[in-house]
Amino acid sequence: MTRSPAGPVVLAYSGGLDTTVTVHRLVHEQGRPVVALLADVGQGEDLPALAERALAAGADDAVVVDARDRFAAEFLVPAVRANALYEGRYPLVSALSRPLIAQLLVEEARRRGASAVAHGCTGKGNDQVRFEVSCGALAPELEILAPVRDSAMSRPEAISYADKHGLELGGITEAKPWSVDQNLWGRTIEAGVLEDPWLAPPEDAFEWTASPATASGTSELVVGFEAGVPVTVDGAEVGLAGVVATLNRAGGQVGFGRVDMLENRRVGIKSREVYEVPGALAVIAAHRDLEDLTLDRDVLHEKARLDIRYAELVYDGLWFSPLKSALDAFVAETQAAVTGEVRLELSPGRCQPTGRRAERALYRPDLATYDTGDAFDHDAGRGFVSLWGLPARTWARVHGDG
Ligand code: ARG
Repeated sequence: MTRSPAGPVVLAYSGGLDTTVTVHRLVHEQGRPVVALLADVGQGEDLPALAERALAAGADDAVVVDARDRFAAEFLVPAVRANALYEGRYPLVSALSRPLIAQLLVEEARRRGASAVAHGCTGKGNDQVRFEVSCGALAPELEILAPVRDSAMSRPEAISYADKHGLELGGITEAKPWSVDQNLWGRTIEAGVLEDPWLAPPEDAFEWTASPATASGTSELVVGFEAGVPVTVDGAEVGLAGVVATLNRAGGQVGFGRVDMLENRRVGIKSREVYEVPGALAVIAAHRDLEDLTLDRDVLHEKARLDIRYAELVYDGLWFSPLKSALDAFVAETQAAVTGEVRLELSPGRCQPTGRRAERALYRPDLATYDTGDAFDHDAGRGFVSLWGLPARTWARVHGDG
């Protein structure tokens, strides 16, 4: 087949069935040379081996990009500072990695003079939205190819395509009971038997967490924050990724960090999702607690409302959008004060802040105490309450009480 003059296509390649079939189809059905891009976002897989798989499927080149530091610094830091939980529960594991992978695709495409990027997502999920909206925002001139979505190939069809063309898949086509995506921030599990929302997730769906029903033990950890970013555990400087990894281990051991929820996808489908996210949930719980100690009441209340919006934008693929940038500026402005420590107690199935301290705490013992040493002005209290209640008394006088 003749090569397209359009130049290579840079494909977000995971090593799975769909993206491997995508390599082969782009090359053999569309005559497009493929550069496979494998982003290391802490998924803990042997990416150089997976790069070989892309080459065997027909890619001209395969590049592995270690994006772990960038993922932590540019994506997890803002997520922690915004307490980002979609629908109050999901810490956006996949939603945070997709805009970064889109950035890497665009950078690689520009380096190689490619006119197109591609992904292997299906049409039912959020990830296609995140890839395409992000790529469009970063490089509207690039073409975006999505052969799996566009041909609506079913999983059995993809497997027989791979068999027919001798694509090496390292055994991944054997009945896989669910689909997993994981990175530094957590692990997502969906589809297969989990599609029945009444069925409890089977125990072997979980890899990072013990069952809270049988876990035992209690431990305490102190997490230190600098300007809203978790940086220490028990005084040791380990950085954000180190804090998350430590809490993933400690939380997972006591069966903390499982989420089982019905989720509203951007594409209009309700779906049953299961997550293992002990580190993410513990970090956000600690961060929220420290905000309570260090932020002004009005800022806290306004931020809590905007945090919800922030998580929706990230979930919906709008990482690179004017509203998200504006919210980033608001959140960043609030976080300079969020420096201090939170003590977390981990016990079976639970993670609870049990102490917090900060040099610039707004909690003032001399104002809060009911004991001696009280600095609160009680006369001012009388005047304040009188004026605060004035509209209520006026209404009652005018309307009577009956
Ligand atoms: N429901 C989650 C989300 O939309 C998880 C998606 C997992 N993605 C995947 N390709 N397995 O963010």
